[in-house]
Amino acid sequence: MEDHVRIFDTTLRDGEQAPGCTMTLEEKLEVARQLARLRVDIIEAGFPAASPGDWAAVHQIAQEVGSATGPVIAALARANRADIDRAWTAIQPAAKRRIHTFISSSDIHIEHQFRSTRVEILERARDAVRYARSLCDDVEFSPMDATRSEPEYVWQMLAAVVAEGATTLNIPDTVGFATPEEYAALIDGIRRNVPGIEQVTISTHCHDDLGMAVANSLAGVRAGARQIECTINGIGERAGNASLEEVTMALKTRRAFFGIDTAIDTRELARASRLVSTITAMPVPPNKAIVGANAFAHESGIHQDGVLKHRMTYEIMDATTIGLDGNELVLGKHSGRNAFRTKLAAMGYEFDSEDEFQKLFRRFKELCDKKKVVDDRDLEALIAGEAQHTPEIFRLEHVQVTCGTGVTPVATVRIADPDGQVRTTAAHGTGPVDAIYKAIDSVVGRSVELLEFSIKAVTEGIDAVAEVSVRIREPGAAPAASEYRVGRHRGPQIYSGHSINTDTIVAAAEAYMSALNRLIAARQQRLSAEAAAYAAGYDRHAPSYAVDLFGKNAGAE
Ligand code: KIV
Ligand code: ZN
Repeated sequence: MEDHVRIFDTTLRDGEQAPGCTMTLEEKLEVARQLARLRVDIIEAGFPAASPGDWAAVHQIAQEVGSATGPVIAALARANRADIDRAWTAIQPAAKRRIHTFISSSDIHIEHQFRSTRVEILERARDAVRYARSLCDDVEFSPMDATRSEPEYVWQMLAAVVAEGATTLNIPDTVGFATPEEYAALIDGIRRNVPGIEQVTISTHCHDDLGMAVANSLAGVRAGARQIECTINGIGERAGNASLEEVTMALKTRRAFFGIDTAIDTRELARASRLVSTITAMPVPPNKAIVGANAFAHESGIHQDGVLKHRMTYEIMDATTIGLDGNELVLGKHSGRNAFRTKLAAMGYEFDSEDEFQKLFRRFKELCDKKKVVDDRDLEALIAGEAQHTPEIFRLEHVQVTCGTGVTPVATVRIADPDGQVRTTAAHGTGPVDAIYKAIDSVVGRSVELLEFSIKAVTEGIDAVAEVSVRIREPGAAPAASEYRVGRHRGPQIYSGHSINTDTIVAAAEAYMSALNRLIAARQQRLSAEAAAYAAGYDRHAPSYAVDLFGKNAGAE
């Protein structure tokens, strides 16, 4: 058996489906570039039939990241021709392309969502793979909700799609229900009972509802799977997907046990985690395995004593393996453009334009005025902040707060509106941040629900840069019932904002402004993404696709 497992990253598809994790096109590109640096084998870049904007993002990622030496670019499609056509046109520019099509195999989905029969669904699976294979050599098929399906029916469906030319069979634990033993048994049963299985790759796709996504994925590999579907920081629907950094480091650290390699450059893991966390404003818990802030910190006296005497007493991994090394090459206020450019190039960053570079250089210089030493983590935070392209509809010009013991916090803000009119307002609140947000709300004329406010120091020391992330929602917007919706109505209306500044209060104000601007710009962005998709060749005359993911009429054919 092959001793290499492929890493299929679905941060930009399943990950992006998580509430509030919606990314703009530029953000998706930034993540895709980092995934390429990480050397994932396959990037699932999106679900092109969901909207013209999704199509445009997949198309651009295929163009910019899908080189002959880069990863395979995959796109998701329901088991119908309209979706498959959209997936195929979106991945066209990539050198290595994959269509990933899926349909449910569990009776609970077939009866209640598709209102169909096993016979009919089997035919749809067969037709979809036959059609996808007529376009593309590399076709992945997923029987959704496989872990709650009758194994014999799954075998029958898989045998049918293998006969039609499927090259990868992905086995989703869609609702995160399986245990490692059950999941391994399912993979083993598939290996024993599906004719032609030896010619195809079996893949795992595990959700984390019961906290077993990583364990299930690894159990699947032990049982013979040779592809793992996972996401950075484990983001994804509900409790998320198997975390890429955890499966990768488990395979690497326990190489002797698993006997399996991946192509992942693990030194890029920490950076990938920070980038995705910043862009999605989803903080990584400090105790998260591998990439949490405490993952390599030893607090107890006994542990510290042991590590000082011999690192391996309490450390099973070296922090440098995931890219947490001393940041030797630091920059400061005397560093010029050349040093800055060289440093970023060494870190693997490229710029689309000189303008982009100059803008970042200005931000770097502003930071140097406030912070003596700028290290890799500061630079990554700067770049991630720039990647979170926020349209400046309302521009914060000034913020000032009075607060302290026995004083009611009062904030004053000066904001320029889209017509250039400048307004100054003051408001009081229960704390300084509350006061600022109230003042901003009153100028912008909106009141939103603050779902999350997080603040963390990017580096150590008194002059550390503060990184503030906020998530907001329009009041009354439905939370997550949209799980089964695609197209323009996809996703709950959660917007994130992010800022870094050596002044925590200013960062808090900027992050909130950024989230508000994103909320206000959402409609406008959708319209321009549609225009970009049409300009790039999205077929506006293709049969219209349904919004209901599972309904019988889903996707015209
Ligand atoms: O969880 C799931 O079943 C999926 C499929 C679309 C593969 O994400
Ligand atoms: Zn999934």
